[in-house]
Amino acid sequence: MASSGRPGACIELTHVSKSYGKVPALNDLSFDIPVGGRYSLLGPNGAGKSTTLKLLIGSLRPDTGNIRILGSSPDSRDSKAVVGYLPEDALPYRMLSVRENLEYIGALRGVPDVKGRTDFFLDELDLRQYEKANVGRLSRGNTQKLAIALALIHSPKVLLLDEPLNYLDIPTQEKVIGLLDRLEGTHLVSTHIMSIANRLTDSVIMISKGMFLWEGTIEELRNRGSPEEPIEKVVARMMTGAS
Ligand SMILES: Nc1ncnc2c1ncn2[C@@H]1O[C@H](COP(=O)(O)OP(=O)(O)OP(=O)(O)O)[C@@H](O)[C@H]1O
Ligand SMILES: [Mg+2]
Repeated sequence: MASSGRPGACIELTHVSKSYGKVPALNDLSFDIPVGGRYSLLGPNGAGKSTTLKLLIGSLRPDTGNIRILGSSPDSRDSKAVVGYLPEDALPYRMLSVRENLEYIGALRGVPDVKGRTDFFLDELDLRQYEKANVGRLSRGNTQKLAIALALIHSPKVLLLDEPLNYLDIPTQEKVIGLLDRLEGTHLVSTHIMSIANRLTDSVIMISKGMFLWEGTIEELRNRGSPEEPIEKVVARMMTGAS
């Protein structure tokens, strides 16, 4: 059952800090993402993006602070049921086939028509020819396609994607962008690639050294630079503290 939460918020981080032993990863990080929001999580290497996503799925717990997903704690059943997560360097079960991975995760997720849903992703992501192949034999890009399908199989209301288009060829990137575009819900996407942030989302949360840096729309971000300046230059300036 939903326990608490600010009205209209889907993802809430309130004064969250997290260290790995002595290595600080997040330092008093707070932000909200509204229901239905499409947000990119931007930050330099080591900023704490993947750590944030791992906290949101409940695989890590914050040292201090509070996290809510649609009003529930990330490690609650309610939260786990509504979240779909694509990890950085996702590795599906290597000894199972592509179809077995989809049917197994689909069944665990309580998907009503697992076979139909499996067929949908096999066709949608051009995996049909590999359906009987063990995942250990797939190329990196085809493994990523399967990982994306596994994150989406239960039509999650809250989608957390860590570098989702890594390893994908350009036609597949376009397919995945179309697929995500059609999927309702709240999306938070960690990426380094501004063109991907622009295609998949309309707003940005920027963090650096585990701390909140900036939040706004991609339009507002673009307007911080001169008209002919690439948006990457604006972002680089902000991340290095030059503006
Ligand atoms: N398992 C771990 N053990 C120790 N330190 C870790 C671990 N995972 C992450 N860290 C450290 O926590 C900090 C944040 O790492 P995180 O992976 O969240 O960053 P990131 O923003 O996702 O970076 P990247 O853009 O390189 O993917 C870094 O200093 C990193 O070295
Ligand atoms: Mg990362």
